[in-house]
Amino acid sequence: MPLLRDIFIHLSENDMLNEATKKVGLRFGADKVVGGIKVEDTIERIKDLNDQGMGVTFDNLGEFITEKSEALQEKSNILEMIQAIDEHGLDAHGSIKLSQIGLHIDYDFCLQNMREILTVAKQADMFINVDMENYSSYDDTIRLVDTLKEEFDNVGTVIQSYLFNSREDIIKYKDMRLRLVKGAYKEAPEVAFQAKKDIDAAYMRLIKTHLLEGSGYTSIATHDHNIIEETIDFIKENDIPEDTFEFQMLYGFRKDYQRNLVSRGYRVIVYLPFGKDWYAYFMRRLAERPQNINLVLKGVTRD
Ligand code: FDA
Repeated sequence: MPLLRDIFIHLSENDMLNEATKKVGLRFGADKVVGGIKVEDTIERIKDLNDQGMGVTFDNLGEFITEKSEALQEKSNILEMIQAIDEHGLDAHGSIKLSQIGLHIDYDFCLQNMREILTVAKQADMFINVDMENYSSYDDTIRLVDTLKEEFDNVGTVIQSYLFNSREDIIKYKDMRLRLVKGAYKEAPEVAFQAKKDIDAAYMRLIKTHLLEGSGYTSIATHDHNIIEETIDFIKENDIPEDTFEFQMLYGFRKDYQRNLVSRGYRVIVYLPFGKDWYAYFMRRLAERPQNINLVLKGVTRD
């Protein structure tokens, strides 16, 4: 469905629609994949998920951040969420996109914002993950993570298996808490595998290496049942302790499979986006998997 994919990518990048949708609540079935606009609503979703035996990693949605004032607003949304989670005693941690808190505006400004977030999170005994964005942000993200990991023990990051660099990074970060993913962006053949079979093979290698050779915690973030079941076989064969890994999936995706993993005793973390910038996130999910168009149809008929 390449045409549909291009349409949704195009829609996700439309400035006018991004602006217009900030002023309205969740529409078109977006509530199936986004936790809420406000912190209070999202806290209710986190409670629901915790009640189902799942942890949460929250993601404050935010796109096109080019002004320091906007980045500061995003930072205060994140701090508000951390404090609300702490007050309610919920099982949840944070995922942060550095571009949202100033990476493309001023490196030192972004570093200071992250220090503040990590300090408040530490007081709440909360882990914070630095999400990995596209390759043009890779060097600055790694530099920032390297600085922060010397100062804080509640920070981790993401390794994308499609990047050739992932082979070195999995060794370099062997003692760190890592989220392992295939990689979500379109990258050049000079820096990243292009074929699904190469990306999948690299992904499986990363998972096995970190589980077996690393002392850091492993978050396996995928909806791919083949990868998850192969990982479970590997975990059993190698007696990997259950408190050293977890599976992560996006909110609203493969809910039956999420519940199935919980019922088999595995820790499942749901990645829960929230905030007024829901539109671009929702369009990108539709682009990735146009089958999700039925979310839109259901949303339209219900509203
Ligand atoms: P992939 O899309 O390769 O699908 C493999 C197979 O799984 C499919 O053929 C199908 O059989 C099955 N499948 C997949 N989705 C399904 C569905 N919804 N329903 C039924 N079957 C399905 N990326 C990044 O670059 N930086 C980051 O920081 C993150 N963070 C992140 C956190 C979390 C919690 C997740 C789940 C993902 C990310 N990603 C990410 C995104 C990641 O890199 C990747 O793009 C997506 O997860 C899609 O790849 P999958 O591994 O899920 O399977």
